[in-house]
Amino acid sequence: MSSRYVLYNVCGLILLSLFLLRDAAPVGRERVSLNTGWRFLRATTNTDKLIYDQRPDVSDRNDLNVLKPWILPSANDFISDPAKRHQRPIGAPGSDVPFVQETFDDSAWEAVNLPHDWAIKGPFYTEDNAVVGGGMGRLPVQGISWYRRELTMTSVDKGKSIYLDIDGAMSYAMVWLNGNLVGGWPYGYNSFRLDLTSYLRPGDDNQLAIRLDNPTDSSRWYPGGGIYRNVWLTKVDPTHIAQWGTFISSKEVSAQSATIDLVVQVENKGPASRQIEVATDVHAFDSATGRTGEKVAEFPRATVNVPAGQKQPVNCSVTVKNPQLWGPLPTQRPNLYVAVTRLYASNKTIDTYETRFGIRSLTFDAGKGLLVNGKLVRIQGVNQHHDLGALGAAFNVRAAERQLEILRDLGCNAIRMSHNPPAPELLDLTDRMGFLVMDEVFDCWERKKTANDFHLIFPDWYEADLRSFLRRDRNHPSVIAWSFGNEVGEQSTAEAGAALAQKLHDIVHEEDPTRPSTASINSAKPDMPFPQVLDVISLNYQGEGIRDTPPYADLQGIKTPPQYPDFHSKFPAKMIVSSETAATLSTRGTYLFPVTNEVSAPASDNAGGGGNPGLRQVSAYELYTAPFGASPDKVFTTQDKNPFVAGEFVWSGWDYLGEPTPYYSARSSYFGIIDLAGFKKDRYYLYQSRWRPDLRMAHILPHWTWPDRVGQVTPVHVFSAADEAELFLNGQSQGRKKKEASNYRFRWDEVAYQPGELHVVTYKNGREWANDTVRTTDAATQLRLTADRTAIKADGRDLSFITVEVLDSRGDVAPRADNAITFSLNGPGEIVATDNGDPADMASFPSKERKAYNGLVLVIVRAKTGASGQITVTATGTGLRAAPVTLAVK
Ligand SMILES: *[C@@H]1O[C@H](CO)[C@@H](O)[C@H](O)[C@H]1NC(C)=O
Ligand SMILES: *[C@@H]1O[C@H](CO)[C@@H](O)[C@H](O)[C@H]1NC(C)=O
Ligand SMILES: *[C@@H]1O[C@H](CO)[C@@H](O)[C@H](O)[C@H]1NC(C)=O
Repeated sequence: MSSRYVLYNVCGLILLSLFLLRDAAPVGRERVSLNTGWRFLRATTNTDKLIYDQRPDVSDRNDLNVLKPWILPSANDFISDPAKRHQRPIGAPGSDVPFVQETFDDSAWEAVNLPHDWAIKGPFYTEDNAVVGGGMGRLPVQGISWYRRELTMTSVDKGKSIYLDIDGAMSYAMVWLNGNLVGGWPYGYNSFRLDLTSYLRPGDDNQLAIRLDNPTDSSRWYPGGGIYRNVWLTKVDPTHIAQWGTFISSKEVSAQSATIDLVVQVENKGPASRQIEVATDVHAFDSATGRTGEKVAEFPRATVNVPAGQKQPVNCSVTVKNPQLWGPLPTQRPNLYVAVTRLYASNKTIDTYETRFGIRSLTFDAGKGLLVNGKLVRIQGVNQHHDLGALGAAFNVRAAERQLEILRDLGCNAIRMSHNPPAPELLDLTDRMGFLVMDEVFDCWERKKTANDFHLIFPDWYEADLRSFLRRDRNHPSVIAWSFGNEVGEQSTAEAGAALAQKLHDIVHEEDPTRPSTASINSAKPDMPFPQVLDVISLNYQGEGIRDTPPYADLQGIKTPPQYPDFHSKFPAKMIVSSETAATLSTRGTYLFPVTNEVSAPASDNAGGGGNPGLRQVSAYELYTAPFGASPDKVFTTQDKNPFVAGEFVWSGWDYLGEPTPYYSARSSYFGIIDLAGFKKDRYYLYQSRWRPDLRMAHILPHWTWPDRVGQVTPVHVFSAADEAELFLNGQSQGRKKKEASNYRFRWDEVAYQPGELHVVTYKNGREWANDTVRTTDAATQLRLTADRTAIKADGRDLSFITVEVLDSRGDVAPRADNAITFSLNGPGEIVATDNGDPADMASFPSKERKAYNGLVLVIVRAKTGASGQITVTATGTGLRAAPVTLAVK
């Protein structure tokens, strides 16, 4: 049986490419970046005495000025019951604070551009009991900060509606204009809009002031701090298409035709009702070039009367012949369209708005899994947190694109946005690059996970945060499902938790009837009320079983046998996917001995336990896990026994800042398939062997440079899609092995180390498939610098990621090299950050000196805005020869 959702897609906004429209200039709408020209101050104590609301961590309660009543009205557009919308009280709170006033001199404040994460430059807190510990990444995210900027308005802006659009500010944003509190938005991951119009003076300079407040203990991972996404000023006629005011979905999708439904919300902020004609053309969209192509359809024009101060929806449908469908790579193509909507008043164009979308159908089949456009697509997904490693939370399109490129090479086709709304540009990337997305909004509801997390504001904000998230993202074809919670405490609270889940589920369907709802459950069982609510069953860890095998027997905590069969029989019509699997732990290139003989074992500090608390490292044999976790092999076994499961989202794709289980004195995670710097762990090849079974690849671990292990047992494992393999040590066969059922790797666990050469030859169906060699290296003598891109744009955003390898005299990477490397740069650019993927490295990210970690270091370079010419990047280390790398700046 299957539950069917036929679908749709869509979106994105906008307007950057309007000038490419062939038939008309953009009329009526301007969207201006406000990313430059800010002044910034971070305060460690609350001198302004403002606060959104009383909080458990704040003691001097009596002299605080609580602004919540003035902030709540910012949610009104997203509260469906008019009786529940908020009235703004009288008064102008905060206007006596100097920082909001036009006369305040901010010239001594730091000059910054957005996106900006104030915490990422560090330094790391290294002490025990630090104010920000390992969970939140040991970086100085806490406290209050202010951003100020002038807005110069011309007289041309008179009579327009002027909006401030903030894609994300961490957190508790409050905004003043010319000393007046405009509004704000507490949840740091959502995008929001404030109407500046009534506070602005057209034809004059205006002063914007934004206050942020990051509590300690507010997150289970690194949240970042600051206005860490893009900020825009949108100028429109008072009658215009509302914020995220289009919704496009498609139905009856086939190769021959598709019906597209469009809803346009026309908003009238003017003083009188207006008669508006709405016209929308559909064009092909080339996402590689950003070019709008041929017109392929035209919606019927509609006329609507919009009363003053109201919004009116306009619905229309059109059939597209021979649609170019959107589907995930590599088996399908991520084709996109753009709908160009124009509003006319008295035959004059008053607004132009673009909506990117895709045409596709989705089927969530309980027996088979996910079908896209009728074709089965196994979900080969990963979870991704929002940070970009050494660049922090400040969103950067190229850094995110690089993360996705490395994941695509892995064979990954799906991303779960754990556990919060992503930057809007990340969904533009997943649309363009053909990834499926599980889009997720909350990590907690009323029940807290940390003292000052979202539970404090959930009752006031959940509806607005959920509706705004859905309206922003529902046009993206890459989004296939909405997750309204991750491992929330309410999952096991019987009827009460299920009732709350039902409310959230209903909101999801009100805003988007085309996609399923889900929430990730790690403890709720099939007979509990909570899972009944979900359209798709998303299991965290319990699908493959938690602490249910002998190596985990001595651990505290609930032991759960594999839950796939029980959920499947209880919910025979619901698709099941694992939204988190594995939680395998490792540090790239570090191997600890002895090695367990098990297929999966909890990481521990005991001999054979894979962990070394002194080093703060976990062995990369890829067998060791968090206490509740499982090795990839164990996950694969359970999934293969339960073929109705649609696939998995691995915890996690990349390492991320914070949550450094099992060593909380470190700064970043051990969970990633890819380390924080973007270097591949051995596990990468294990997933690649499963997700790209046609790729001729064999990968040996460990490295073979162990002068301290001569004669000692040093297991050799090989990852490959082959079915047979023979290992040779210095030409001597160590045996030819067959992959038995439920084997996902080749293991030679009794190899005695001798220096020299390990070589593996693999076979598939009796034919040679792929081979790999590792050799014992000698002393490190040289460095090799390789840029991922040798030409970058001087737009202030583009980046080159340069990998530095420490090599021996023959050019092999010295796998244990930890040489100190110093970076310098000549030309019109700057070194933004360095990293090496070591979770325990406490050198701050902007440092131009960094030790290699197991032979590798990364340096990230940006060109100066508007520059051209050549950048030369040099790396030096004592006794190491090195050729610089040269980048062209365009
Ligand atoms: C227009 O579409 C919206 C969203 O799908 C729907 O709620 C509404 O009922 C439709 N209105 C009409 C008049 O069809
Ligand atoms: C709009 O233009 C059409 C065609 O030129 C004309 O018939 C109509 O009267 C115009 N409407 C308005 C409101 O000016
Ligand atoms: C290893 O594989 C490559 C590529 O298929 C092949 O050219 C080469 O001969 C193989 N080498 C050995 C030693 O088997």
